[in-house]
Amino acid sequence: MRIVLVGPPGAGKGTQAAYLAKNLAIPHISTGDLFRANISQGTELGLQAKSYMDAGQLVPDEVTIGMARDRMNQPDAENGFLLDGFPRNVAQAEALDEALELDGVKLDAVLDLEVPEDEVVKRIAGRRICRNDSSHVFHVTYSRPQQDGVCDVCGGELYQRDDDSEETVRKRLEVYHTQTEPIIDYYKAQGLVVTISALGKVAEVTGRAMDALPARS
Ligand code: AP5
Ligand code: ZN
Repeated sequence: MRIVLVGPPGAGKGTQAAYLAKNLAIPHISTGDLFRANISQGTELGLQAKSYMDAGQLVPDEVTIGMARDRMNQPDAENGFLLDGFPRNVAQAEALDEALELDGVKLDAVLDLEVPEDEVVKRIAGRRICRNDSSHVFHVTYSRPQQDGVCDVCGGELYQRDDDSEETVRKRLEVYHTQTEPIIDYYKAQGLVVTISALGKVAEVTGRAMDALPARS
């Protein structure tokens, strides 16, 4: 299965992706996590991305598309993947279509997570992530770690993301509405969009997503 996950910042894309990828036995590919891993390793790519991320802006397409393609070309993604945070504008969606066409494959679905803005703000304000791996995600109220400040998965230190400040979140939401939402229409024209509510318990949302996705091929 080849799936794109779309939704505003803080909708729960990363949280859901972890469960869906496991259920569907496909790799979870998050461009945000790839950028954060590059930043913590101090790579050139991380250096290029950091100022854009801290400002809530999109990292330029030249950097992002190449990085996403490299990850999709890894052997574990040969038979499918769950993309989280990519594509994020129409140019990236077109680049993805071109890459898939060259491989002779197609997307199976675009899963659109709908969450009201006030809920998104609450989710982001309480989010804590792991220093070792930014895909280890918790929430101070909704998804508390067993020990405050410590990752349940690997024991790493939990912290608040640099781009989770109120001002940057406002910018990220604006960028989502102006640049990312148009990809929903782009994919609607291809008949690929499945929209679900991302309100409720994490497991309920996962169940809704599994029910809404096309049968495994
Ligand atoms: P990225 O990391 O992709 O951030 P985002 O899209 O803003 O999404 P978030 O990670 O904020 O939220 P999420 O939907 O994954 O929610 P989560 O599961 O954590 O991108 C960051 C930056 O990188 C961008 O701003 C940009 O600069 C750059 N970038 C990335 N991709 C790019 C691209 N393709 N092109 C250009 N630039 C790019 O959940 C949020 C919180 O809610 C957590 O605390 C979680 O525990 C909690 N939660 C989750 N589900 C529930 C639930 N059902 N009930 C209660 N709480 C819940
Ligand atoms: Zn961890």
